[in-house]
Amino acid sequence: MEKTAIIYSFNTAKTAQAARLIYENFSDKNIEMINAEDITGEKFLQYKNLILGVPTWFDGELPNYWDEFVPELEELDLNGLRVAIFGPGDQKNYPENFVDGIGILGRLLEERGAELVGFVPADEYNFEKSLALRGDKFMGLPLDFENQASKNKERIIRWVNQLKNELY
Ligand SMILES: Cc1cc2nc3c(=O)[nH]c(=O)nc-3n(C[C@H](O)[C@H](O)[C@H](O)COP(=O)(O)O)c2cc1C
Repeated sequence: MEKTAIIYSFNTAKTAQAARLIYENFSDKNIEMINAEDITGEKFLQYKNLILGVPTWFDGELPNYWDEFVPELEELDLNGLRVAIFGPGDQKNYPENFVDGIGILGRLLEERGAELVGFVPADEYNFEKSLALRGDKFMGLPLDFENQASKNKERIIRWVNQLKNELY
């Protein structure tokens, strides 16, 4: 696999747990783990593939550490970069904003030229609205620790296998 990083906040509990599971399921151990709280545009451009951990907070918004990076992101040329996004969310308590963060960041990345990969079918989830939907798929991998924690492991294994084919 080409140069790859997993970027997520090291201060999260659930997102970090998912990031470690994703890392463990790749046989390629050259993948770097980067703290999203220290992310810069320069760092972003050093990889061919990025796997981003993006939980949804504040009723349908990005957590602060991603939100603060958006102005810099909007200046980057991301052509030639492949990005896969995973995002913890809660479909029961936030059914109208389920994993919106995946969709918010995903669209911004596409506007800058990045190619999103790692889409998954939405039919295993129960929700009303999501900015992360495109057709009948999510633009990344939703993980629901509150209501479907028992599915996380299997979902991650399946997703990583998919990414092995879809990333550079
Ligand atoms: C105040 C608050 C607001 C939240 N808003 C949303 C939301 O709009 N959509 C969603 O899918 N999940 C929402 N969640 C659920 C979180 O995304 C979920 O708990 C996630 O696992 C948090 O991951 P983290 O602890 O790694 O940051 C919210 C949780 C809290 C406590």
